[in-house]
Amino acid sequence: MPKAIIVGTGGGFDHVTVAERPAPAPRPREITVRLHANSLNYHDYVVVSGVWGPAEPRIPMADGAGEVIAIGEGVNEFAVGDRVVSTFFPTWLSGAPNVVGFATVPGDGVDGYAREEVTAPITAFTHAPKGYSHTEAATLTTAGLTAWRALFSDDHVKPGDVVLVQGAGGVSIFALQFAKMAGATVIATSSSDEKLERLRSLGADHVINYRSDPAWGETARALTGGRGVDHVVDVGGPSTLQQSMEAVRAAGHISVIGILGGVEAALQFVPVLVKQIRLQGVLVGNRAQQIEMIKAIDANGMKPVVDRSFPLEEIVQAFRHQESNRHFGKICLEF
Ligand SMILES: NC(=O)c1ccc[n+]([C@@H]2O[C@H](COP(=O)([O-])OP(=O)(O)OC[C@H]3O[C@@H](n4cnc5c(N)ncnc54)[C@H](OP(=O)(O)O)[C@@H]3O)[C@@H](O)[C@H]2O)c1
Repeated sequence: MPKAIIVGTGGGFDHVTVAERPAPAPRPREITVRLHANSLNYHDYVVVSGVWGPAEPRIPMADGAGEVIAIGEGVNEFAVGDRVVSTFFPTWLSGAPNVVGFATVPGDGVDGYAREEVTAPITAFTHAPKGYSHTEAATLTTAGLTAWRALFSDDHVKPGDVVLVQGAGGVSIFALQFAKMAGATVIATSSSDEKLERLRSLGADHVINYRSDPAWGETARALTGGRGVDHVVDVGGPSTLQQSMEAVRAAGHISVIGILGGVEAALQFVPVLVKQIRLQGVLVGNRAQQIEMIKAIDANGMKPVVDRSFPLEEIVQAFRHQESNRHFGKICLEF
């Protein structure tokens, strides 16, 4: 019988259980997928750990990849045997954002993919990149698409631009890889010299330790000869935005993506005006953007960085590993 992970109301690592959840037969425009992998994100962590626990028992995890095992009537986009990856917003298909918050997001407002089988509308999945394992495909839904949309949908990063990425987390490593794919110069920060070396080996042109250099934004600007960087992928929020504004060029773009440094800050707003900075909040992206991203990956052969995989039943150990911050790249569940 297919298994699923259930997180109890309110979340918490000691409220995680395993249950049997067979998927129903697909109805018109639905597919049934045998899932084989999830990847972990900070958002999944807050749901499962109970920081922002679910209002009712929930199957967690937004990122799922697997193989189509049945199709309903009227399904032309997928066939049995296709390898697929989930979408973060199954109802936001294209165009400008039409979603606010997480009510429609698998693993938060609705059940997610920490399970062996699911039947879902076709919009809940896209094809996976060619040559990707299920685990590699599962890294794309949240972290991959967030980085892609920031650089190529909200902005138009091009060869020769300078992109600043912060910390060696999932989103930032994807942003580094995509920016290099586009021919940009990348400045990467981390709190760890060892991780900085690994970022360099992934193509970072300049690296800065943000712990030993608290004025890393000014350092990044100096690296551009004083002009400033074209695009900043900001994941720290309160702990990073001021230095991101130091780093960015006049009319440059800052993607406001993460809240690793908390949810409130006192900010100097003058630079936003005098530098005419474009500050853009980001919440992952739409299905059409995911299809574009996968087309680009197919053309370039880019592979994600997977830190380590755990079995489905060891989901809590996987989140403990994420908590330890020893990871480099994506932590996954493989089943
Ligand atoms: N808005 C969206 O659509 C979206 C989508 C995905 C993720 N996010 C958010 O983006 C953030 C990063 O997510 P992720 O999945 O990439 O995380 P992750 O893989 O867990 O990586 C986090 C990394 O960021 C660095 N870091 C930690 N605290 C920091 C701080 N206070 N200031 C600067 N860097 C810090 C650390 O790197 P070092 O060890 O190298 O220092 C850490 O390894 C989270 O807040 C997450 O919720 C938002």
